[in-house]
Amino acid sequence: MRNRQLSRAPLLQAAFEPRIVAFFCNWCTYLAADLAGTSRMKYAPNVRVIRLMCSGRVDPQFVLDAFAQGADGVLIGGCHPGDCHYQEGNYKTLRRYHLLKCVLRQMGIEEERFRLEWISAAEGDRVRSVINDMVEKVRALGPLQLDAETEDIREEVAVC
Ligand code: FES
Repeated sequence: MRNRQLSRAPLLQAAFEPRIVAFFCNWCTYLAADLAGTSRMKYAPNVRVIRLMCSGRVDPQFVLDAFAQGADGVLIGGCHPGDCHYQEGNYKTLRRYHLLKCVLRQMGIEEERFRLEWISAAEGDRVRSVINDMVEKVRALGPLQLDAETEDIREEVAVC
């Protein structure tokens, strides 16, 4: 019986497909993802893209909600520093990103599950490699499992 359980573990792990929520800026990373698609560059189908006008629109609550609702990873893509169409939206994103990383670490969420990348509209190949790399890293970590303490924090955050 024990051997049977052990032999099923690799099968379960092999079946795991990470769910990644990606918040992409309309003017750069979203266009890069589009370019990757029209150029027939293959990237993992594990990403659900949410288009926003600027990476600065990503409220920290969006990230927490994504994790709380079943995402195994969250990716933010924005214009390169200095190229934001709203002047400094991506600088705000960068500040929030570092703060959120600390919060997520305290919640026991591994660093590889949350990522920020600057990808311009011309970098279709880069969006492909970032997505594939993130999917592989999250796959190696396995499904996100929030513990009871984290659930409490999530409820507190939800009322903010
Ligand atoms: S417009 Fe792209 S990050 Fe602000």
